[in-house]
Amino acid sequence: MKVPFADLFRQFKPLVPEIQIAMNSIIERCAFINGPEVQQFERHMAKWIGLPEVCGVSNCTQALEMTMQALAIGPGDEVITVPNTAFPTTEAINLTGARVVFADITPGYFSIDPAQIEKKITSKTKAIIPVHLYGIPADMNAILAIAKKHSLYVIEDCAQAQGARYKGTYVGTMGTASCFSFFPSKNLGTFGDGGAMASADTGLIKKVRMIANHGRIDKYSHLIVGTNSRLDTFKAAQLSICLNHLDAWNQQRRDAAVLYEELLTPYKGIKLPRVPEGCEAIWHVYAIRHAKRDELTAYLKKQGIDTGLHYPMPLHFQPVYESMGLQKGSLPEAEAACAEVLSLPMFPGITDDEIQWVSKAIGDFCKQ
Ligand SMILES: Cc1ncc(COP(=O)(O)O)c(C=O)c1O
Repeated sequence: MKVPFADLFRQFKPLVPEIQIAMNSIIERCAFINGPEVQQFERHMAKWIGLPEVCGVSNCTQALEMTMQALAIGPGDEVITVPNTAFPTTEAINLTGARVVFADITPGYFSIDPAQIEKKITSKTKAIIPVHLYGIPADMNAILAIAKKHSLYVIEDCAQAQGARYKGTYVGTMGTASCFSFFPSKNLGTFGDGGAMASADTGLIKKVRMIANHGRIDKYSHLIVGTNSRLDTFKAAQLSICLNHLDAWNQQRRDAAVLYEELLTPYKGIKLPRVPEGCEAIWHVYAIRHAKRDELTAYLKKQGIDTGLHYPMPLHFQPVYESMGLQKGSLPEAEAACAEVLSLPMFPGITDDEIQWVSKAIGDFCKQ
């Protein structure tokens, strides 16, 4: 049996007629930029997540960069985050002119270790960016307590975590601000790039909205130098339709994770992903760990099973960060995770047969 890593069309297919009607309506009105669908989606998402306001933008990388810009983070400042994330998390810090400071992850988990954050705080530290990697919430209470003690901003990287809950609360509602990605394969994905910034601080959202729209205060007045990072009307309309299905899609991912856990638990050598107590993951990625990850990947490929790597190289080993001089062993938990993680097929609509086939193949590998 062939099992894809993800199957977007399987997910979107039932919604295509509704999306096409929405697209046709936008074409007829030529409302491609800042059409009413953008505000409608922003209100829809704000209501869904439980915040007063959300700002739709072009992508999560710019959402992170613009949020830091709005918080006046820039040259001379330091921002703490993890090395086992997508490059855009740290790229956004660099784009503001601030310095990236890496903190290791909690042993046995994938998110930033609050104890390690404390060790990295200096007089230059301005913010912490916890990444809710794979859709598993980071240890927010501990992170928020540290931030409060040292007067730091917390910017939640929710690119992979639309709908994950930390002790009953949606991630993205606890920090100073939060940034979301609507890259097509994300739990809430669009037909291209897209993103959003959310915050309980409507003044901060106003600033990000202004930066995202060329620093405008009205059509012909520009208060600051901003950029062009608006969410397209087409994408906003499609996102609104898909947002109605996000909770159900996340539930399908959770059901798939439960089945993987049940089937994979007996096998030796596999470490299954753990969710902190009281949290609800939304499994953007279902990443297991195995000491012979690359051999397992090749074995699964031969059985027709596609897998992914999130992420094979900790960011402090990327050529672009060579000048940081961080040697092997400097962030051991994240380094070990990057060497061992393997993302299994996971998407709404994945069948029990597919999960059983993947799990059986992993079991056969473990028995060799
Ligand atoms: C953890 C994380 N942060 C940020 C981003 C950047 O998102 P975007 O592609 O929307 O700019 C991604 C995208 O892959 C991500 O996974």
